[in-house]
Amino acid sequence: MPIHEIRHPLIRHKLGLMRRADLSTKNFREMAQEVAALLTYEAMKDLPLEPVRIEGWAGSLDVEKLAGKKVTVVPILRAGIGMLDGVLSLIPGARVSAVGIARNEETLEAHTYLERLAGQMDQRMALIVDPMLATGGSMVATIDLLKKAGSRSIRALVLVAAPEGIRRVQARHPDVEIYTASIDSHLNEDGYIIPGLGDAGDRIFGTR
Ligand code: URA
Repeated sequence: MPIHEIRHPLIRHKLGLMRRADLSTKNFREMAQEVAALLTYEAMKDLPLEPVRIEGWAGSLDVEKLAGKKVTVVPILRAGIGMLDGVLSLIPGARVSAVGIARNEETLEAHTYLERLAGQMDQRMALIVDPMLATGGSMVATIDLLKKAGSRSIRALVLVAAPEGIRRVQARHPDVEIYTASIDSHLNEDGYIIPGLGDAGDRIFGTR
């Protein structure tokens, strides 16, 4: 499965700012949405188009429009919400399919506590958003449930990815393409990405 590390200067700059421990909640939140929008631009570059005839100012002409069913964005709660508006700024007609995944602290297995999917999942591209691809547990669980609901075209947008999480998703779902602003070094013993961003959910929501 291809992993796309998007090394655009605007993304590198914004991600560099986001790594600063002293960045305010407001600025961290804004940049998460901005980087999400820039990743969306890249991830959607091969969306299918279809011709359509319109009336323009100088008469009728053929233009193009996006073909098929609307994309569905799939934020993994809670932190994925921090990327949603950025994605929707570029694909405003997208449907939103919210997924809540929590880790069972006894079994350490990912468990789904919320699943509100758009209709006709088999006919639309699903674009999962989650800021941190760490162990890959939530991502794999989300892809599992999307495929069970019929999804055949799935992409994932993450701000930062750890090699461990990439390997886990690749092993289980080699067809899913991942777009990230950075492939970081490794996970620490607590499951945080190094150098990473810290707890992205807390930084987006201003908790802790
Ligand atoms: N989740 C986060 O928010 N940060 C990490 O580094 C890993 C998982």
